[in-house]
Amino acid sequence: MADRKGPITAPVLKGMKGSGRKIIMLTAYDYLTGRIVDEAEVDCVLVGDSLAMVVLGYDSTLPVTVDEMIHHTKAVRRGVKRALLVGDMPFGSYQGSVSEAVANAARFLKEAGVGAVKIEGGVAVAESVRRMVEVGIPVMGHIGMTPQSLRQFGGFKVQGRDEAGRREILAGAAALEEAGAFSLVLEGIPDDVAEEVTQSISIPTIGIGAGPSCDGQVLVLHDLLGMVEDFKPKFVKRYANLAEQAKAAVRAFGQEVQDGVYPDEEHSYGKR
Ligand code: KIV
Repeated sequence: MADRKGPITAPVLKGMKGSGRKIIMLTAYDYLTGRIVDEAEVDCVLVGDSLAMVVLGYDSTLPVTVDEMIHHTKAVRRGVKRALLVGDMPFGSYQGSVSEAVANAARFLKEAGVGAVKIEGGVAVAESVRRMVEVGIPVMGHIGMTPQSLRQFGGFKVQGRDEAGRREILAGAAALEEAGAFSLVLEGIPDDVAEEVTQSISIPTIGIGAGPSCDGQVLVLHDLLGMVEDFKPKFVKRYANLAEQAKAAVRAFGQEVQDGVYPDEEHSYGKR
């Protein structure tokens, strides 16, 4: 597709709203997954703090550190040539003060070479977003069921179902746009609220569990590939079943080794 030729920058992504084509975003956590999603022509690759759960095995995103995020983001950077690379700022790295937020965001640009950072929260983080944008750091916002607020929500619960929640989401979206965010992830909110947000702001919305009206969609790559077997939120659609395939392949290897079938002539260097 001609309009998919990159490189894709934050302003390019922002300009995709209203273009008639949806924004495609996926997560990646290492060189190889970064390369796969980039070569499959996604527009945006997010090194999400979901890394904590998907790669590091924690039961929430809270424990992952800036150093760990940067370590993985540098690996993804080596695999991503065309898509916009976004680094997810982990819990505790931007909530303390505006200057701390700017300093940590700058690390993602300097050390990991990202094209933008993402932070969670609405009105409460707008001042930090404004300052980051002022000093040249493109920011993607993230509102709704923001996983870093898991403890406050009392679990992974859909947000914005009642009127107060809907208003808070709309106010957050407006504040982030006004502060200069170039796009917004909407996670875990009713479809009609996501539609209202999408229509009320001029920056693109990228949905995850937010229905079809958003300007784009994002999923965790390992969910899409069917690699996560014990956790499947309603919005996740598996396009492959890699966990099953991987286990079948590993079992086949074990069996062939036991049976003396592997390694055969084709896979050996033969005699001297
Ligand atoms: O960490 C993550 O993977 C995310 C996306 C699901 C939006 O924030």
